[in-house]
Amino acid sequence: MAKNKQNMIDLNIKNVLSDKIGLRNGIERRVLNDHLKKYGPLVGEIFKLKDKPGYSFLKLPDNHGGVEKIKKFANKQKKMKWESIVVLGIGGSALGGIAVRDALLGPYHYLKKKTHLFFLDNIDPDDVSELFSSIKFEKTLFIVISKSGGTVEPIALYNIAKKIFVRKKIKNYQKHFIFITDPKKGILRSIGKKEKITMFDVPPDVGGRFSVLSEVGLVPAALAGIDINALLKGAKKMREIIRESKPLVNPALILAVLQYLLDKKKNKIMTVMMPYSNCLFRFSDWYRQLLAESIGKNKNSGPTPINALGATDQHSQLQLYNEGPENKWFIFLHVLKHKNDLELRAGLPKEIGFLNNKKLSELIDAAYIGTSEALAKNGRPNITVLVPTINAEVLGGLFTLFEFQVALLGLLYKVDAFNQPGVEESKIITKKILLETP
Ligand code: PA5
Repeated sequence: MAKNKQNMIDLNIKNVLSDKIGLRNGIERRVLNDHLKKYGPLVGEIFKLKDKPGYSFLKLPDNHGGVEKIKKFANKQKKMKWESIVVLGIGGSALGGIAVRDALLGPYHYLKKKTHLFFLDNIDPDDVSELFSSIKFEKTLFIVISKSGGTVEPIALYNIAKKIFVRKKIKNYQKHFIFITDPKKGILRSIGKKEKITMFDVPPDVGGRFSVLSEVGLVPAALAGIDINALLKGAKKMREIIRESKPLVNPALILAVLQYLLDKKKNKIMTVMMPYSNCLFRFSDWYRQLLAESIGKNKNSGPTPINALGATDQHSQLQLYNEGPENKWFIFLHVLKHKNDLELRAGLPKEIGFLNNKKLSELIDAAYIGTSEALAKNGRPNITVLVPTINAEVLGGLFTLFEFQVALLGLLYKVDAFNQPGVEESKIITKKILLETP
C-alpha cells in the first residue's frame, strides 16, 4: 500500500498480488518490488524533462499569473448573471472540464444552480438543436476551446451559435463568447482577433489531454464558481508526493509499473476503470482518453481502456469481468467519505432485513468490496484508489496522479505519450468528403 497521508489519496494493491489471487494472473511482490526499483529513476527523468513539449503539464499548478487573471475575469463576469455557460470543445478540450463539472457540481447541478455549465463535445444535430433551442441566448456565455484552433467540430458549433445571435439580433454578441486557444496560431485565434473576442491561451507545450489544469479546464470551472486554487493545490501536493516518494511507495510509479507488468507478463490488455461514484464517472472518461491516445501507438502493445460505473455496471458488465476472458485488470475508485448520505428505514421485510437502517454509503461500499473480492477470488487482478472524499483538492490530486502514471507509461512502452498521429487520417478523409460535397 502506498501511504501518502498529505492528501490521503491512497492505493490498495493487495488484489493484484500473487499471494492473494494466485500466480496465474497475480504479480509476485518480489517481482513488483524489483521492477519498482528498476524503474524508480524514471520519475526523476520526468521531472528533468519538464521543459520538453508534453511534459510541461507538470508545471501547470505553478501558473499563478494565469490563475489570478482567470479569477479576476470570472469575478467580473458575475454581474452578467449568465444562466448558461456552454463549452464548445472536443477530446482533451472537453473531457477534463466535464470531469471537473460532474465531480464538483454534480450530475444534477442544472436543477439547483443558477448558472448551468454545459459541454457540447459532439456535432450531433439532435443534441445541439436540443440545447440551442432550450437555452436563452441573451443569458448564455459560450466558451470555445481548441488548442490547435482548427478543429472542425467546435468551429462549426461556434459558427452556428454566432448565426443564432445574429438572427436573434442580440447586440454585442462578441461579449457572449470567450476563446481558449493557442497564443499565436490557428483559425480560432484569427477569428478572435478580428471579432475582438476575449481570449485565453492554451500553453502551447501542453498536450490537449494533459491540459485540464490549464486555462482549458480552469476557465469554465472558475466561471461555474469552482475553487480553482484548491484544484491546483491538490495537484501540487500530489506532484510533490510523486517527486519525493521512494519507488516502493510511489503511487504514480506503482500504477505505471502494475499496468506495464500486467499487460506484458499476464496479458491484461484491457484496463477497466470503475469508480463507485457517479460524480467520478466522467473522470474515468477523461482517463480513457488519456490512456488510449497517449499509449495506443504500437500494433503489438498498448492497453485498451474501458470505463464502468459501480454499482450500476455490476448489473451489466460484471458477468463478463468475473467469468469472461482473462484479459482485463481493474482500477476501482472508492470514495471513503461521500458528501451526502441517506438512510433506509427500519422494519423491512425479513428477507431484506439486512437493509434495516443501512445507509446508502454502506450499500455502495459493500457492493464495491463484494465486487473487488469476487474478482480477486476468480483470480482477476484489481487495485483500488482510495479517494478520501470528492472535493477540488482531491480531484486536482487525482488528475495529477494519473497524468504522471501515463507519462511514465510512455517511457515504459517507449512511445511518445504526447502525440496522436493516428487521429489525423480520419480528419483528412473527413475534410476530403466535405470538400467534395457541393
Ligand atoms: O489530446 C488531444 O490532443 C486531443 O484529444 C485534442 O484535445 C482534440 O483533438 C481537440 O483538439 P483541439 O483542442 O486542438 O481542438
